[in-house]
Amino acid sequence: MIDQLDSLGEASLKQIQSAGSVDAIEQIRVSVLGKKGSLSQVLRGLAQVSAEERPKIGSVANQWKARLETAIEEQKATLEAGQLEARIKNEKIDVTAPGLLPHQGRLHPLTATTRKIVKALERLGFDTALGPEAETEILNFDAINISADHPARDMHDTFFVNPGVVLRTHTSPVQMRTMQSQPWPVRVLCAGAVYRCDHDATHSPMFHQIEGLWVDQKVSMSDLKGVLSYLLKELFGPDAEIRMRPSYFPFVEPGVEVDVRAKGLFKGDGWIEILGAGLVHPELFKFAGYDIKKAQGFAFGIGVERVAMLLHKISDIRHFYQSDSRFLSQF
Ligand code: PHE
Repeated sequence: MIDQLDSLGEASLKQIQSAGSVDAIEQIRVSVLGKKGSLSQVLRGLAQVSAEERPKIGSVANQWKARLETAIEEQKATLEAGQLEARIKNEKIDVTAPGLLPHQGRLHPLTATTRKIVKALERLGFDTALGPEAETEILNFDAINISADHPARDMHDTFFVNPGVVLRTHTSPVQMRTMQSQPWPVRVLCAGAVYRCDHDATHSPMFHQIEGLWVDQKVSMSDLKGVLSYLLKELFGPDAEIRMRPSYFPFVEPGVEVDVRAKGLFKGDGWIEILGAGLVHPELFKFAGYDIKKAQGFAFGIGVERVAMLLHKISDIRHFYQSDSRFLSQF
């Protein structure tokens, strides 16, 4: 019976030491040491053994039981350490992996375009001027030669705020504000929002203009053309050409509409209207108190949206105002 115990013990020991997982060891423990396990079955045979041999066999059986239990604990510990090792290997954090970059904002295309125009003009010595968006009807119209019954008022679909106060329909009233507040020579630009009750794919009830005003002793159409051709080359590239067509704005005489043509800009013969300009009308000098025999000047007004749409080939003005990051992130 002792031989039987020894061979069972040896076999079980081998099984335990080669067990590959904690679960497998547990199964071996149950099948050998459990109540119905093989060791217990052998011990049940003790009843048939003589009384003097019984303690001897009992002690061998107990030794095996202890040895097997120790082996089980040891093998379990080894396997668990291995599992931990494997987990550490698998779950380790790669501190050298690149992090997630924070979302980065950028300039709105209208801001970028405004800055481009302003920077180019500042290089020529233009100062910046500001005026209110809620403007008096007098300065928005009357003072710059658009009397109450002037048909040009119909072209400006005006938003009225209070009696005598409108949302400025253009930045031209800043011409008058400037001339009223300082003697000539003046060289100012004014960038800002303007309002007209008009909206479709190319018109918005609020849009942006940049006004330029240059008054000095001898300022002519050729100065105007020189400044504008420089400005449009800065915007559309060195090969940009300009063309002036006679036009009418009450606050200038003569008045022109200016077209630009450049590589990559679209449309039929290539010319596209880009701004309005002209020589400051004597009526404005009179209103401002400038000497109309001595002061000469030119003024121009350019639409920021129009320039940005041409530069970036944007077909719908409404994209500018929707704060859609899919649109904005392209610039
Ligand atoms: N104020 C004119 C407009 O809004 C543009 C302009 C400005 C024209 C200055 C001539 C001189 O259409």
